Amino acid sequence: MDCLEITGGASLNGKLIVSGAKNAALPILAATILSKNPVAIANLPNVADIRTFLKLLELLGGGYVKENEIFTIDASKIACVVAAYDIVKTMRASILVLGPLLARYGECRVSLPGGCAIGQRPVDLHLKAMEKMGANISIEEGYIHAKAPRGLKGATIVFDKISVTGSENAVMAAALAKGKSEIVNCAKEPEVVQLCETIAKSGVKIDGIGGDAIEIEGTGGEAPNIPPIRVIPDRIEAGTYLCAAAITNGSLTLERVEPRHMTAVTDKLRQMGFAFEFGADTIRILKSAQIRPVEIVTAEYPGFPTDMQAQMMALATQAEGNSAIEERLFENRFMHVGELARMGAKIALRGNTATISGKTKLIGADVMATDLRASSALVLAALAASGKARIHRIYHLDRGYERMEEKLRAIGAQIERKKEPN
Ligand code: EPZ
Repeated sequence: MDCLEITGGASLNGKLIVSGAKNAALPILAATILSKNPVAIANLPNVADIRTFLKLLELLGGGYVKENEIFTIDASKIACVVAAYDIVKTMRASILVLGPLLARYGECRVSLPGGCAIGQRPVDLHLKAMEKMGANISIEEGYIHAKAPRGLKGATIVFDKISVTGSENAVMAAALAKGKSEIVNCAKEPEVVQLCETIAKSGVKIDGIGGDAIEIEGTGGEAPNIPPIRVIPDRIEAGTYLCAAAITNGSLTLERVEPRHMTAVTDKLRQMGFAFEFGADTIRILKSAQIRPVEIVTAEYPGFPTDMQAQMMALATQAEGNSAIEERLFENRFMHVGELARMGAKIALRGNTATISGKTKLIGADVMATDLRASSALVLAALAASGKARIHRIYHLDRGYERMEEKLRAIGAQIERKKEPN
């Protein structure tokens, strides 16, 4: 296992290229199962979750070739429709093969993903959506066994709660269903929008993309041809690096970003005292003389993203005054609090609200990563801390951040990846 060793205190300045969005790439990789032709995908981030999903597609019988950074996925030879426990347990986004496999092949078995550090993470809404389209769902020895031997039929699917991957599964299944589907209370994240646009570009009629309710005219089982795609920029990676500059009193230009996807985050950083310069695909954050405290409530897009909650908490430790962050999407997404406290942060928890006292001096220490975004918050705190911090179990970080230590070193951070002393 690796750890990251960080000596804090340097301010981060310069330019940084943002990678493709992991959470856009995963549903697009799943959607290749629907496609008659091989699908060319550009800007896939080189992160563990993407490598795992490619391995899952191969285990199902699919394949891919990589040429000049373009991955061409051929899922047309899928012969197995079982997503096995040992791969699903390493990446819960494997649930995204449920809709496409069921729609394309009429049957599949997908291991229940189980919970994770940030919450129980049920998939009941995914299953209800499939049943509404006529699937027969049973749970057998920890596997979802889904059957629709006569194909799926269009239906009105109302999500009781907004679910990103639930919406994505429903969209992919409805694309091949017979007749029209309406998906109500559909997630509006940019990653969901890119999936819908990708399926629409394959010839499937979709109306209302990006809205609360979308309508899909399914092909009745006919596999569409998905054209080449370029994965959108990762708005969460981008937000994380804006926080890295902010917490180290640096000035940083992000390149290959989509500013429109980051309004909730840049607005909150502006409230904290930071100013920005926006280009078509760039964002520059300017130093701030003082960091003001902030109040954040996480919400579905276009609200403040839960995936940026931990990072903003680390930054809030450097604000002059008390900040409050309420986590409304997941029941246990404060695992970073205890670790930030080990570096001197003063954070009080009451239910799903954290109160962060600022400004607190952070001191480097040994800390443990617990989940993807919590680990990035520990990196941010370590960059601002005095002395040396060591962040353990950074396989969590590697799931969603491409070459983080290289990107941070290139803008002035003192950071090394080391082997854990065994
Ligand atoms: C997606 O997870 C993202 N993952 C998560 O990013 C992100 O935190 C989350 O959306 C919220 O934005 C991917 O896109 C691969 P949800 P997802 O279904 O789809 C409840 C990261 O850091 N729910 O939108 O699993 C659920 O418990 C990851 O990159 C049900 O009750 O999240 C949660 O409270 C972490 N039943 C809420 O809905 C269901 O069937 C939102 O979850 C499904 C969800």
